[in-house]
Amino acid sequence: MKRVDDFRLHFGKQELVPIVIGGMGVDISTAELALEAARLGGIGHISDAMVQTVSDRRFDTDFVSQKLKTYKANVASSDKSDVHFNLAVLEEATRNHVGKTMEAKRGDGMIFINCMEKLTMNAPRETLRVRLSAALDAGIDGITLAAGLHLGSFALIEDHPRFRHAKLGIIVSSQRALAMFLRKNARLNRLPDYVVVEGPLAGGHLGFGLDWAKHDLATIVSEVNAYLKSEHLDIPVIAAGGIFTGSDAAAFLEHGAAAVQVATRFTVTEQCGLPDKVKQEYFKASEADIEVNTLSPTGYPMRMLKGSPGIGSGIRPNCEAYGYLLDANGRCAYIDAYNREVELHPGAKKVKVMDKTCLCTHMRNFDIWTCGHYTYRLKDTSLREADGSYRLLTAEHVFRDYQFSADQKIALPA
Ligand SMILES: Cc1cc2nc3c(=O)[nH]c(=O)nc-3n(C[C@H](O)[C@H](O)[C@H](O)COP(=O)(O)O)c2cc1C
Repeated sequence: MKRVDDFRLHFGKQELVPIVIGGMGVDISTAELALEAARLGGIGHISDAMVQTVSDRRFDTDFVSQKLKTYKANVASSDKSDVHFNLAVLEEATRNHVGKTMEAKRGDGMIFINCMEKLTMNAPRETLRVRLSAALDAGIDGITLAAGLHLGSFALIEDHPRFRHAKLGIIVSSQRALAMFLRKNARLNRLPDYVVVEGPLAGGHLGFGLDWAKHDLATIVSEVNAYLKSEHLDIPVIAAGGIFTGSDAAAFLEHGAAAVQVATRFTVTEQCGLPDKVKQEYFKASEADIEVNTLSPTGYPMRMLKGSPGIGSGIRPNCEAYGYLLDANGRCAYIDAYNREVELHPGAKKVKVMDKTCLCTHMRNFDIWTCGHYTYRLKDTSLREADGSYRLLTAEHVFRDYQFSADQKIALPA
């Protein structure tokens, strides 16, 4: 039986261990986590979700309070259409985050950045162009386009000097989405360097409806590979979502995936950005504690722990400070849900909003605990301490377990 280490991911002449740690915003897949993947010869992702906040936390900037100060007068208004991002600040924050990460990179692997199209930031094209260009300027090895069809994203950077040299890839959940992306971008004569096929068991937002359980990653990977073959396109396909053991990963590699993208197993590592208390919640979770719901204002279903403190919280929308999900017209589904509750409960000091969540604020504060389907198996990957808590793992331990384990075994920490 083969192990992951029997395979390599090839980008031209470059050979990598075929393990990609997926992007997890907001700073859950930290620079430290991505750097470990690169040091060990694989690929790690940072994320540019809410990058101003990430810069403030890591580099002592004060971008969020500056924005809040600028728009303070608008806080009580339900109309957020005038709340805009300062593009120069967005660029600086991205350069900080990417530049400092790339400076610290060691080893033969690569570091990519996860860019979600659904962060529409009240000016989708302008902000996405800045995010992509600034990441390329700051030397990122590659960009993974996520959470959206990204039909126009390549065109936003077609004049960038690194457009044809940096690795560019896209996450899709169906062959149809990939075909659409390729068709729309045909005129640019620039294929993606890789395609991540993300199935229904992944963490974060899902590219499926609430019938996600009817879909299956192995089938979609086969469909995408068959389509690429029929089009005579040689693009590595990276399988993602629910790949929990080294043996699971090796099986995908044997059946035509060029690499695997994994995330859930790394949420309980020291290098993951979740607070330690939240990591324990992930360890403790049972299958019944995990749900896929429609609380995200993006319109995509999202998987999370039912005990996430952000669920049901009726906080006032925080768009003057954040506002990452404001669409091109300055709207967000959470604002509508919040305003509805305020109207229904005149005079109430606090309202509850059950159908949507203020995702910016709660992801920023680690109060929406998004997670993969197999989070309930994390307890089997570690040891329990005398006080009942689970021992955190190192990213190196988990990475090497994926790389070298066989027979569905999971190595416990020493
Ligand atoms: C906590 C968490 C947060 C995530 N956040 C994002 C994200 O911000 N953007 C994205 O494209 N994918 C996100 N994902 C999906 C992962 O990058 C990855 O593709 C997927 O979870 C892999 O499946 P696995 O978790 O079963 O290994 C997230 C996953 C988890 C577990």
